[in-house]
Amino acid sequence: MPEGSPAVRTQETKHRPLHSDVGTGEDREREPGIGSLIASALWMWGRSSPRHMAFFAGIAWRMWHARRRRVQSERRLGGPVPSVVAISPTMRCNYNCRGCYSHGRDSDNELSTAELDALFSEAEELGVNSMVVTGGEPLVRSDLLELMARHRRLLFVPITNGSLVTPEVAERIARIGNVLLLVSIEGFPEDTDARRGPGAHKAALRALGHLRQAGACYGFAATNTAANTGHLGTDAFVDEMIGLGCSVGFFTEYVPCDEHPNDDWMLDQRAREAFRRRVLELRRHKPIVLVQFPHDEYGKDNRCSAAGQASLHINSQGDVEPCPFAPISCENVRWGGLASAFRSPFMRAIRENPALLRRDRFACALFEHRADLGELAVRLRTHVDEREHERGRGRGREREQEREGEGKGKSKRDRTIERERAGRTAAATS
Ligand SMILES: C[S@@+](CC[C@H](N)C(=O)[O-])C[C@H]1O[C@@H](n2cnc3c(N)ncnc32)[C@H](O)[C@@H]1O
Ligand code: SF4
Repeated sequence: MPEGSPAVRTQETKHRPLHSDVGTGEDREREPGIGSLIASALWMWGRSSPRHMAFFAGIAWRMWHARRRRVQSERRLGGPVPSVVAISPTMRCNYNCRGCYSHGRDSDNELSTAELDALFSEAEELGVNSMVVTGGEPLVRSDLLELMARHRRLLFVPITNGSLVTPEVAERIARIGNVLLLVSIEGFPEDTDARRGPGAHKAALRALGHLRQAGACYGFAATNTAANTGHLGTDAFVDEMIGLGCSVGFFTEYVPCDEHPNDDWMLDQRAREAFRRRVLELRRHKPIVLVQFPHDEYGKDNRCSAAGQASLHINSQGDVEPCPFAPISCENVRWGGLASAFRSPFMRAIRENPALLRRDRFACALFEHRADLGELAVRLRTHVDEREHERGRGRGREREQEREGEGKGKSKRDRTIERERAGRTAAATS
Protein backbone atom coordinates (compact mmCIF):
# COMPACT_ATOMS: atom_id res chain seq x y z
CA MET A 1 0.00 0.00 0.00
CA PRO A 2 1.48 3.40 -0.88
CA GLU A 3 2.71 5.63 1.94
CA GLY A 4 -0.01 7.91 3.21
CA SER A 5 -2.92 6.06 1.66
CA PRO A 6 -6.28 6.76 3.33
CA ALA A 7 -6.35 3.31 4.95
CA VAL A 8 -3.01 3.92 6.63
CA ARG A 9 -4.02 7.33 7.83
CA THR A 10 -7.25 6.00 9.31
CA GLN A 11 -5.45 3.29 11.22
CA GLU A 12 -2.80 5.63 12.57
CA THR A 13 -5.25 8.29 13.59
CA LYS A 14 -7.34 5.77 15.47
CA HIS A 15 -4.54 4.97 17.91
CA ARG A 16 -3.24 8.45 18.23
CA PRO A 17 -3.00 9.64 21.83
CA LEU A 18 -4.30 13.07 22.73
CA HIS A 19 -0.76 14.31 22.79
CA SER A 20 -1.30 17.90 21.94
CA ASP A 21 -4.51 18.95 23.57
CA VAL A 22 -4.27 20.96 26.71
CA GLY A 23 -5.83 18.62 29.23
CA THR A 24 -7.68 18.79 32.47
CA GLY A 25 -6.83 16.88 35.61
CA GLU A 26 -9.11 14.07 34.46
CA ASP A 27 -7.38 13.77 31.09
CA ARG A 28 -4.17 13.04 32.90
CA GLU A 29 -5.47 9.65 33.88
CA ARG A 30 -7.57 8.80 30.91
CA GLU A 31 -5.04 9.60 28.20
CA PRO A 32 -1.55 8.96 29.49
CA GLY A 33 0.31 9.95 26.29
CA ILE A 34 3.50 11.95 26.74
CA GLY A 35 1.93 15.00 25.16
CA SER A 36 -1.13 14.97 27.34
CA LEU A 37 1.18 14.77 30.35
CA ILE A 38 3.06 17.77 29.11
CA ALA A 39 -0.34 19.39 28.74
CA SER A 40 -1.13 18.45 32.34
CA ALA A 41 2.15 20.02 33.32
CA LEU A 42 0.95 23.26 31.87
CA TRP A 43 -2.30 22.94 33.76
CA MET A 44 -0.43 22.45 37.02
CA TRP A 45 2.21 25.11 36.49
CA GLY A 46 -0.53 27.51 35.69
CA ARG A 47 -1.76 27.06 39.24
CA SER A 48 1.55 27.55 40.99
CA SER A 49 3.73 30.68 40.87
CA PRO A 50 3.94 33.73 38.58
CA ARG A 51 7.31 32.48 37.35
CA HIS A 52 5.78 29.15 36.37
CA MET A 53 2.76 30.91 34.92
CA ALA A 54 5.03 32.76 32.49
CA PHE A 55 6.72 29.53 31.57
CA PHE A 56 3.30 27.91 31.15
CA ALA A 57 2.09 30.67 28.88
CA GLY A 58 5.17 30.33 26.70
CA ILE A 59 4.81 26.58 26.35
CA ALA A 60 1.07 26.74 25.72
CA TRP A 61 1.70 29.26 22.95
CA ARG A 62 4.34 27.02 21.42
CA MET A 63 2.13 23.95 21.61
CA TRP A 64 -0.80 25.68 20.02
CA HIS A 65 1.24 26.90 17.08
CA ALA A 66 3.12 23.61 16.76
CA ARG A 67 -0.13 21.73 16.57
CA ARG A 68 -1.35 23.80 13.65
CA ARG A 69 1.90 23.23 11.79
CA ARG A 70 1.81 19.54 12.61
CA VAL A 71 -1.65 19.07 11.16
CA GLN A 72 -0.48 20.64 7.89
CA SER A 73 2.73 18.57 7.84
CA GLU A 74 0.82 15.37 8.47
CA ARG A 75 -1.39 16.12 5.49
CA ARG A 76 1.64 16.81 3.33
CA LEU A 77 3.67 13.81 4.51
CA GLY A 78 0.70 11.45 4.61
CA GLY A 79 1.49 10.10 8.08
CA PRO A 80 2.00 11.09 11.69
CA VAL A 81 4.42 13.78 12.86
CA PRO A 82 5.37 13.04 16.46
CA SER A 83 4.89 15.89 18.90
CA VAL A 84 7.94 14.76 20.88
CA VAL A 85 11.35 13.89 19.43
CA ALA A 86 14.08 12.52 21.71
CA ILE A 87 17.60 13.32 20.60
CA SER A 88 21.02 12.30 21.89
CA PRO A 89 23.39 15.01 20.62
CA THR A 90 26.29 13.05 22.08
CA MET A 91 26.99 9.67 23.61
CA ARG A 92 30.06 11.03 25.39
CA CYS A 93 29.77 11.33 29.14
CA ASN A 94 31.83 12.38 32.13
CA TYR A 95 30.15 9.70 34.32
CA ASN A 96 30.17 5.94 34.13
CA CYS A 97 26.86 4.92 35.73
CA ARG A 98 25.92 1.30 36.29
CA GLY A 99 23.23 0.06 33.95
CA CYS A 100 23.36 3.03 31.58
CA TYR A 101 22.04 2.18 28.13
CA SER A 102 24.56 4.51 26.49
CA HIS A 103 27.50 2.26 27.30
CA GLY A 104 28.82 0.43 24.26
CA ARG A 105 27.01 2.64 21.76
CA ASP A 106 29.06 4.44 19.14
CA SER A 107 30.18 7.91 20.22
CA ASP A 108 32.06 9.03 17.11
CA ASN A 109 30.79 10.98 14.10
CA GLU A 110 28.39 13.18 16.11
CA LEU A 111 25.90 15.45 14.40
CA SER A 112 27.63 18.81 14.01
CA THR A 113 26.33 22.13 15.32
CA ALA A 114 25.14 23.02 11.82
CA GLU A 115 23.37 19.67 11.44
CA LEU A 116 21.63 20.04 14.81
CA ASP A 117 20.69 23.60 13.92
CA ALA A 118 19.10 22.44 10.67
CA LEU A 119 17.36 19.56 12.42
CA PHE A 120 15.82 21.83 15.06
CA SER A 121 14.68 24.28 12.35
CA GLU A 122 13.00 21.46 10.49
CA ALA A 123 11.40 20.19 13.71
CA GLU A 124 9.94 23.64 14.27
CA GLU A 125 8.62 23.84 10.74
CA LEU A 126 7.05 20.38 10.88
CA GLY A 127 5.25 21.11 14.14
CA VAL A 128 7.23 19.09 16.68
CA ASN A 129 6.66 20.80 20.00
CA SER A 130 9.18 19.20 22.39
CA MET A 131 12.71 17.83 22.11
CA VAL A 132 13.80 15.54 24.95
CA VAL A 133 17.59 15.84 24.96
CA THR A 134 19.41 12.83 26.34
CA GLY A 135 22.66 11.00 25.63
CA GLY A 136 25.44 10.65 26.87
CA GLU A 137 25.65 13.81 28.88
CA PRO A 138 24.06 16.55 26.76
CA LEU A 139 25.89 19.36 28.58
CA VAL A 140 29.32 18.12 27.44
CA ARG A 141 28.32 19.74 24.15
CA SER A 142 29.29 23.35 24.53
CA ASP A 143 27.03 24.37 21.61
CA LEU A 144 23.82 23.05 23.17
CA LEU A 145 22.68 26.12 25.12
CA GLU A 146 23.19 28.37 22.11
CA LEU A 147 21.27 25.95 19.89
CA MET A 148 18.36 25.76 22.31
CA ALA A 149 18.27 29.54 22.56
CA ARG A 150 18.15 29.81 18.76
CA HIS A 151 15.06 27.58 18.44
CA ARG A 152 12.50 29.15 20.72
CA ARG A 153 9.53 27.55 19.04
CA LEU A 154 10.57 24.24 20.63
CA LEU A 155 10.40 23.23 24.28
CA PHE A 156 13.70 21.53 25.15
CA VAL A 157 13.76 18.97 27.99
CA PRO A 158 17.42 18.04 28.51
CA ILE A 159 18.23 15.32 31.05
CA THR A 160 21.55 15.81 32.84
CA ASN A 161 23.64 14.26 35.58
CA GLY A 162 23.95 17.83 36.92
CA SER A 163 27.73 17.89 37.24
CA LEU A 164 28.14 20.60 34.58
CA VAL A 165 25.35 22.87 35.83
CA THR A 166 27.23 25.90 37.12
CA PRO A 167 25.50 29.08 38.31
CA GLU A 168 26.22 30.59 34.87
CA VAL A 169 24.67 27.62 33.04
CA ALA A 170 21.62 27.78 35.31
CA GLU A 171 21.19 31.50 34.69
CA ARG A 172 21.49 31.02 30.95
CA ILE A 173 18.86 28.28 31.05
CA ALA A 174 16.50 30.47 33.07
CA ARG A 175 16.98 33.31 30.58
CA ILE A 176 16.42 31.17 27.48
CA GLY A 177 12.90 30.39 28.71
CA ASN A 178 12.19 27.32 26.54
CA VAL A 179 14.30 24.85 28.51
CA LEU A 180 13.05 22.53 31.24
CA LEU A 181 16.16 20.83 32.64
CA LEU A 182 15.80 17.49 34.44
CA VAL A 183 18.54 16.45 36.87
CA SER A 184 19.01 12.71 37.36
CA ILE A 185 18.87 11.42 40.90
CA GLU A 186 18.23 7.87 42.11
CA GLY A 187 16.55 8.37 45.49
CA PHE A 188 18.61 8.22 48.69
CA PRO A 189 22.16 9.67 48.43
CA GLU A 190 23.52 6.11 48.77
CA ASP A 191 21.40 4.95 45.80
CA THR A 192 22.56 7.82 43.60
CA ASP A 193 26.22 7.41 44.51
CA ALA A 194 26.12 3.62 44.19
CA ARG A 195 24.80 3.85 40.66
CA ARG A 196 26.38 7.11 39.45
CA GLY A 197 29.59 7.27 41.43
CA PRO A 198 30.73 8.95 44.68
CA GLY A 199 29.63 12.55 44.96
CA ALA A 200 26.95 12.23 42.26
CA HIS A 201 24.10 12.93 44.68
CA LYS A 202 25.73 16.10 46.00
CA ALA A 203 26.42 17.22 42.42
CA ALA A 204 22.75 16.72 41.52
CA LEU A 205 21.57 18.67 44.57
CA ARG A 206 24.05 21.43 43.79
CA ALA A 207 22.66 21.67 40.25
CA LEU A 208 19.11 21.89 41.57
CA GLY A 209 20.24 24.66 43.93
CA HIS A 210 21.79 26.67 41.09
CA LEU A 211 18.64 26.27 39.00
CA ARG A 212 16.48 27.46 41.89
CA GLN A 213 18.74 30.40 42.53
CA ALA A 214 18.56 31.36 38.86
CA GLY A 215 14.75 31.19 38.82
CA ALA A 216 14.57 28.43 36.20
CA CYS A 217 11.79 25.85 35.77
CA TYR A 218 13.29 22.41 36.29
CA GLY A 219 12.74 18.89 37.58
CA PHE A 220 14.29 15.54 38.41
CA ALA A 221 14.69 12.27 36.51
CA ALA A 222 14.92 8.95 38.37
CA THR A 223 15.37 5.41 37.11
CA ASN A 224 13.24 2.84 38.91
CA THR A 225 15.02 -0.37 39.76
CA ALA A 226 13.96 -3.16 42.10
CA ALA A 227 16.46 -1.63 44.55
CA ASN A 228 15.13 1.95 44.76
CA THR A 229 11.49 1.83 43.68
CA GLY A 230 10.21 1.50 47.25
CA HIS A 231 11.77 4.83 48.15
CA LEU A 232 11.01 6.66 44.90
CA GLY A 233 7.30 6.10 45.43
CA THR A 234 7.21 7.55 48.95
CA ASP A 235 5.75 10.87 49.98
CA ALA A 236 9.12 11.63 51.56
CA PHE A 237 11.04 11.41 48.28
CA VAL A 238 8.51 13.33 46.22
CA ASP A 239 8.15 15.99 48.95
CA GLU A 240 11.93 16.32 49.06
CA MET A 241 12.00 16.99 45.30
CA ILE A 242 9.15 19.50 45.61
CA GLY A 243 11.04 21.14 48.47
CA LEU A 244 14.08 21.48 46.19
CA GLY A 245 11.92 23.41 43.74
CA CYS A 246 11.17 20.69 41.15
CA SER A 247 8.03 21.30 39.10
CA VAL A 248 8.26 18.04 37.26
CA GLY A 249 9.64 14.54 37.82
CA PHE A 250 10.36 11.82 35.27
CA PHE A 251 10.42 8.21 36.45
CA THR A 252 11.93 5.77 33.94
CA GLU A 253 11.76 2.06 34.63
CA TYR A 254 15.08 0.28 34.21
CA VAL A 255 15.27 -1.53 30.88
CA PRO A 256 18.11 -4.07 30.73
CA CYS A 257 19.41 -2.79 27.40
CA ASP A 258 22.85 -1.82 28.68
CA GLU A 259 26.17 -3.56 28.20
CA HIS A 260 25.88 -5.58 31.39
CA PRO A 261 22.14 -6.12 31.90
CA ASN A 262 21.24 -6.52 35.55
CA ASP A 263 18.18 -8.73 35.89
CA ASP A 264 18.08 -8.10 39.65
CA TRP A 265 17.17 -4.49 38.89
CA MET A 266 14.14 -5.38 36.81
CA LEU A 267 10.73 -4.79 38.32
CA ASP A 268 8.45 -7.80 38.35
CA GLN A 269 4.84 -7.40 37.29
CA ARG A 270 3.62 -6.84 40.84
CA ALA A 271 6.17 -4.15 41.61
CA ARG A 272 5.49 -2.49 38.26
CA GLU A 273 1.75 -2.35 38.87
CA ALA A 274 2.21 -1.18 42.45
CA PHE A 275 4.47 1.67 41.34
CA ARG A 276 2.04 2.64 38.58
CA ARG A 277 -0.78 2.88 41.14
CA ARG A 278 1.48 4.93 43.36
CA VAL A 279 2.32 7.38 40.56
CA LEU A 280 -1.36 7.87 39.74
CA GLU A 281 -2.03 8.51 43.43
CA LEU A 282 0.87 10.96 43.75
CA ARG A 283 -0.32 12.78 40.64
CA ARG A 284 -3.61 13.47 42.34
CA HIS A 285 -2.13 14.90 45.52
CA LYS A 286 1.27 16.43 44.89
CA PRO A 287 1.95 19.85 43.36
CA ILE A 288 4.41 18.39 40.88
CA VAL A 289 3.93 16.86 37.43
CA LEU A 290 5.01 13.24 37.44
CA VAL A 291 5.74 11.50 34.16
CA GLN A 292 6.33 7.76 34.08
CA PHE A 293 8.31 6.21 31.22
CA PRO A 294 7.70 4.17 29.32
CA HIS A 295 4.28 3.54 30.90
CA ASP A 296 2.80 6.89 29.93
CA GLU A 297 3.44 6.01 26.30
CA TYR A 298 0.97 3.12 26.57
CA GLY A 299 -2.75 3.61 26.59
CA LYS A 300 -5.32 1.28 28.08
CA ASP A 301 -4.80 -0.98 25.07
CA ASN A 302 -1.15 -1.56 26.15
CA ARG A 303 0.14 -0.15 22.89
CA CYS A 304 3.42 1.74 22.63
CA SER A 305 3.10 5.13 20.95
CA ALA A 306 6.78 5.56 19.99
CA ALA A 307 8.22 4.67 16.54
CA GLY A 308 7.12 8.01 15.15
CA GLN A 309 3.50 7.99 16.34
CA ALA A 310 3.92 10.28 19.35
CA SER A 311 7.73 10.13 19.65
CA LEU A 312 10.95 8.71 18.23
CA HIS A 313 14.68 8.93 18.93
CA ILE A 314 17.58 10.30 16.92
CA ASN A 315 20.99 9.15 18.05
CA SER A 316 24.20 11.14 18.06
CA GLN A 317 25.08 10.06 14.53
CA GLY A 318 21.65 10.91 13.17
CA ASP A 319 20.27 7.38 13.03
CA VAL A 320 16.50 7.35 13.42
CA GLU A 321 15.44 4.85 16.09
CA PRO A 322 11.95 3.95 17.35
CA CYS A 323 13.07 4.72 20.93
CA PRO A 324 16.34 4.97 22.91
CA PHE A 325 15.80 1.46 24.34
CA ALA A 326 15.63 -0.08 20.85
CA PRO A 327 18.67 1.27 18.98
CA ILE A 328 17.81 -0.22 15.60
CA SER A 329 17.70 2.00 12.58
CA CYS A 330 17.08 2.01 8.84
CA GLU A 331 17.35 5.76 8.19
CA ASN A 332 19.57 8.65 9.02
CA VAL A 333 18.54 12.28 9.23
CA ARG A 334 21.70 13.14 7.28
CA TRP A 335 20.12 11.56 4.21
CA GLY A 336 16.75 13.27 3.98
CA GLY A 337 16.20 15.27 7.15
CA LEU A 338 13.40 14.85 9.65
CA ALA A 339 10.57 14.72 7.12
CA SER A 340 12.09 11.65 5.55
CA ALA A 341 12.65 10.14 9.00
CA PHE A 342 8.96 10.59 9.80
CA ARG A 343 8.04 8.82 6.57
CA SER A 344 10.39 5.95 7.35
CA PRO A 345 9.01 2.63 6.04
CA PHE A 346 10.68 0.97 9.04
CA MET A 347 8.80 3.13 11.58
CA ARG A 348 5.60 2.68 9.65
CA ALA A 349 6.01 -1.09 9.60
CA ILE A 350 6.50 -1.07 13.38
CA ARG A 351 3.41 1.09 13.91
CA GLU A 352 1.33 -1.19 11.76
CA ASN A 353 2.30 -4.33 13.65
CA PRO A 354 0.40 -4.39 16.96
CA ALA A 355 2.38 -7.43 18.16
CA LEU A 356 5.57 -5.33 18.18
CA LEU A 357 3.96 -2.59 20.24
CA ARG A 358 2.63 -4.81 23.00
CA ARG A 359 4.70 -5.70 26.05
CA ASP A 360 4.37 -8.60 28.40
CA ARG A 361 7.61 -8.93 30.29
CA PHE A 362 9.73 -5.81 29.98
CA ALA A 363 8.78 -2.19 30.56
CA CYS A 364 9.44 -1.44 26.89
CA ALA A 365 7.70 -3.36 24.09
CA LEU A 366 10.25 -2.34 21.47
CA PHE A 367 13.09 -3.69 23.61
CA GLU A 368 11.07 -6.85 24.24
CA HIS A 369 10.70 -7.39 20.49
CA ARG A 370 14.18 -6.20 19.51
CA ALA A 371 14.96 -9.43 17.68
CA ASP A 372 11.85 -9.01 15.50
CA LEU A 373 12.68 -5.33 14.96
CA GLY A 374 16.19 -6.34 13.86
CA GLU A 375 14.77 -8.79 11.35
CA LEU A 376 12.26 -6.24 10.11
CA ALA A 377 15.11 -3.76 9.62
CA VAL A 378 17.04 -6.30 7.60
CA ARG A 379 13.99 -6.98 5.42
CA LEU A 380 13.62 -3.24 4.75
CA ARG A 381 17.22 -2.91 3.73
CA THR A 382 16.71 -0.54 0.82
CA HIS A 383 17.54 2.33 3.19
CA VAL A 384 19.67 0.48 5.67
CA ASP A 385 22.56 2.61 6.82
CA GLU A 386 26.20 1.73 6.95
CA ARG A 387 26.00 0.74 10.57
CA GLU A 388 23.34 -1.88 10.02
CA HIS A 389 25.32 -3.28 7.09
CA GLU A 390 28.31 -3.59 9.38
CA ARG A 391 26.19 -5.29 11.98
CA GLY A 392 25.16 -7.88 9.40
CA ARG A 393 28.78 -8.50 8.52
CA GLY A 394 29.65 -8.48 12.23
CA ARG A 395 27.26 -11.34 12.92
CA GLY A 396 28.93 -13.34 10.16
CA ARG A 397 32.36 -12.55 11.56
CA GLU A 398 31.26 -13.51 15.01
CA ARG A 399 29.93 -16.85 13.87
CA GLU A 400 33.23 -17.50 12.13
CA GLN A 401 35.16 -16.60 15.23
CA GLU A 402 33.05 -18.94 17.30
CA ARG A 403 33.65 -21.74 14.87
CA GLU A 404 37.36 -21.12 15.03
CA GLY A 405 37.22 -20.92 18.82
CA GLU A 406 38.31 -17.28 18.87
CA GLY A 407 36.86 -14.92 21.41
CA LYS A 408 39.54 -12.34 22.05
CA GLY A 409 40.14 -9.01 20.48
CA LYS A 410 36.53 -8.29 19.56
CA SER A 411 35.62 -4.76 18.67
CA LYS A 412 33.07 -2.77 20.66
CA ARG A 413 30.61 -3.29 17.83
CA ASP A 414 31.12 -7.06 17.88
CA ARG A 415 30.57 -7.11 21.63
CA THR A 416 27.31 -5.18 21.14
CA ILE A 417 26.17 -7.73 18.57
CA GLU A 418 27.08 -10.53 20.95
CA ARG A 419 24.99 -8.95 23.68
CA GLU A 420 22.04 -8.52 21.36
CA ARG A 421 22.30 -12.16 20.37
CA ALA A 422 22.47 -13.24 24.00
CA GLY A 423 19.37 -11.13 24.66
CA ARG A 424 17.51 -12.79 21.81
CA THR A 425 18.45 -16.21 23.08
CA ALA A 426 17.32 -15.31 26.58
CA ALA A 427 14.04 -13.90 25.26
CA ALA A 428 13.47 -17.02 23.18
CA THR A 429 14.09 -19.40 26.06
CA SER A 430 12.14 -17.52 28.71
C1 LIG B 1 21.01 7.99 29.53
S1 LIG B 1 20.82 9.33 30.61
C2 LIG B 1 21.46 10.68 29.66
C3 LIG B 1 21.33 11.99 30.35
C4 LIG B 1 22.32 12.30 31.46
N1 LIG B 1 23.61 11.86 31.22
C5 LIG B 1 21.79 11.76 32.78
O1 LIG B 1 22.37 10.85 33.35
O2 LIG B 1 20.77 12.28 33.21
C6 LIG B 1 19.06 9.71 30.60
C7 LIG B 1 18.27 9.01 31.69
O3 LIG B 1 18.16 7.64 31.35
C8 LIG B 1 18.33 6.88 32.51
N2 LIG B 1 18.80 5.54 32.13
C9 LIG B 1 20.05 5.17 31.80
N3 LIG B 1 20.08 3.86 31.52
C10 LIG B 1 18.84 3.39 31.66
C11 LIG B 1 18.26 2.09 31.49
N4 LIG B 1 18.98 1.04 31.15
N5 LIG B 1 16.94 1.98 31.72
C12 LIG B 1 16.19 3.05 32.08
N6 LIG B 1 16.70 4.30 32.25
C13 LIG B 1 18.00 4.46 32.05
C14 LIG B 1 19.34 7.67 33.31
O4 LIG B 1 19.32 7.35 34.69
C15 LIG B 1 18.92 9.09 33.05
O5 LIG B 1 17.96 9.54 34.00
S1 SF4 C 1 23.20 7.73 32.98
FE1 SF4 C 1 23.82 9.68 32.10
S2 SF4 C 1 25.51 10.33 33.44
FE2 SF4 C 1 25.27 8.18 33.76
S3 SF4 C 1 26.70 7.21 32.32
FE3 SF4 C 1 24.68 7.29 31.37
S4 SF4 C 1 24.73 9.09 30.15
FE4 SF4 C 1 26.38 9.28 31.66
